[in-house]
Amino acid sequence: MRILVIGSGGREHAIIWKLRQSERSVELFCAPGNAGIAVIAKCLPVDVNDPSSISVLAESLRADMTFIGPEAPLVRGVREAFASRNLRVVAPSANAAMLEGSKVFAKEFMKRNRIPTARFAVCDSAESARSSRRGFGFPVVVKADGLAAGKGVSIAGDAAEFDDAINAMMVERVFGDSGARVVLEECLIGEEASLMLFSDGRDYKIIAPARDYKRVNDGDLGPNTGGMGSFSTPGLIDEETLSRIKNDIVEPTLLGMTREEKPFQGVLYVGLMLTAAGPRVIEYNARFGDPETQAVMVRLDSDLVEIMEAIIEKRIGATPIEWSGDSSVCVVAASGGYPGEFEKGKVITGLDDASSIEGVVIFHAGTSRSGSGEFLTSGGRVLGATARATTLEAARARAYGAMNKISFEGMRYRKDIARSA
Ligand code: AMP
Ligand code: GLY
Repeated sequence: MRILVIGSGGREHAIIWKLRQSERSVELFCAPGNAGIAVIAKCLPVDVNDPSSISVLAESLRADMTFIGPEAPLVRGVREAFASRNLRVVAPSANAAMLEGSKVFAKEFMKRNRIPTARFAVCDSAESARSSRRGFGFPVVVKADGLAAGKGVSIAGDAAEFDDAINAMMVERVFGDSGARVVLEECLIGEEASLMLFSDGRDYKIIAPARDYKRVNDGDLGPNTGGMGSFSTPGLIDEETLSRIKNDIVEPTLLGMTREEKPFQGVLYVGLMLTAAGPRVIEYNARFGDPETQAVMVRLDSDLVEIMEAIIEKRIGATPIEWSGDSSVCVVAASGGYPGEFEKGKVITGLDDASSIEGVVIFHAGTSRSGSGEFLTSGGRVLGATARATTLEAARARAYGAMNKISFEGMRYRKDIARSA
C-alpha cells in the first residue's frame, strides 16, 4: 500500500514513524517532509496551501491513501480536491474544518448546541470590540477569527494590553483577514488538556489524552508558541471527567456537525480547560495537535494504517484501538529567538547518542541536511525528544537525558515539561 502524508513537522514525523511499524507492507511518501522524515520515507516538494496540487501529487504517486497533517489545506478544501479525482484521503471537509478555521463559527456552533465553553462576544470592528469589552472583566481573551498559525490568541490583563491586541489584529491586520472579526472571551481558570479523537462521521474513538505546553518559557511564561512539549499518561483525565467530556462535549459536537450537514470525518482535537465548574472547550482543531501527536503515537499499540482505513471506510466503531499503559514525554528543542526571529542553518549534534537511549525517539520538525550529510536547523521548532517508559517520571528522565546529548547553537528548551503532572 502506498501512503502519502502531507506536512513537515514533528507531528508528521511521528505519524510516519508509526505507519512504518505497520504489519502491512507500506511504501511511505511525505510532502514536503523534513530531513528526519526523509530517513524513513520518500520526501517530495508540494505547496501545502494548494489542495489541487496536493491531489495531483497523490494521483501521480498512485497513493492508495493520503493523510493531511496541517490545517491550511483542510480549510482550503483538500478533501473536495481529492474527491474530484476519486482519491482516498483522511481529512474533514472544508465545511467541517470550519470548527478550526473560524473561531466565530466554532463559538456560535457551541452556543447553538449547548456545548460548554467560555462566555463570548463576536466583534466586527475595533469600536464594537471596545464597547463589548465592558461586558468582561480583566483579564479578557481576544481571538482572531481566522487561522493565525497558533498565534491569534491574546490574553489582555488591562485596557492598554487590550487596545494593543485589538490594534494589532483589527487595524494593523498582523494576521491579515483572519483579524477582520475577533471573539472576546471570559478568561477560564484551570488545568488544560487536549483530547483528540478519530471520527468517521458516524462513530468515534477517543485518543489517549495529552497535555501540551504553549508558552515558550518555564512556568508557562512568555509568548505563545506552536507548542514546546507534551506528555501523555494513563489517568491524565480521570474517568468521571472523561465521561462528562464525552457526554457534554464530544458527542454533542459530532452530532451537531452531522445535524448541520457537516459530518466530521478525520481527527478532531478538542482543547479543554478543566475548570472548577466542569470541562469547557477552549478551541477545536480539525487535525492532530503538534506536539501532542508525538506523545500519543509512541503510546499507540494498534496499527495506524488500519485506523486510517477505518476512518475512510466508516468503520471506526468496530476497530479496536489499544493504548499502552506506559507514559510518554516530548520535549521540543527550538531555535534561539523563537517564537520571534531566529537564525537557521546551525549544525545539530548528538542525534545518534540521543536516540540510542532506551525508549527514546527523536522526531524532527525544522531540520534540513547539508551537502556533507549533517543535520541542520531550518525552523523555529527544530525537533522533539520523545520518550516512552513505564512511569511518567521515567519517561521524563529519558526525554531530558536525550535532550542533554543534543546541541546546536542557540538551542533552547523548557525544563519543566511534565514536571507538575
Ligand atoms: P487557542 O489557540 O484558542 O488554543 O488559545 C491558545 C491558548 O490561550 C490556550 O491554550 C489557552 O492557554 C489560552 N486560552 C484560550 N482561550 C482561553 C480562555 N477562554 N480562557 C483562558 N485561557 C484561554
Ligand atoms: N499543540 C496545539 C496545536 O497543535 O494546535
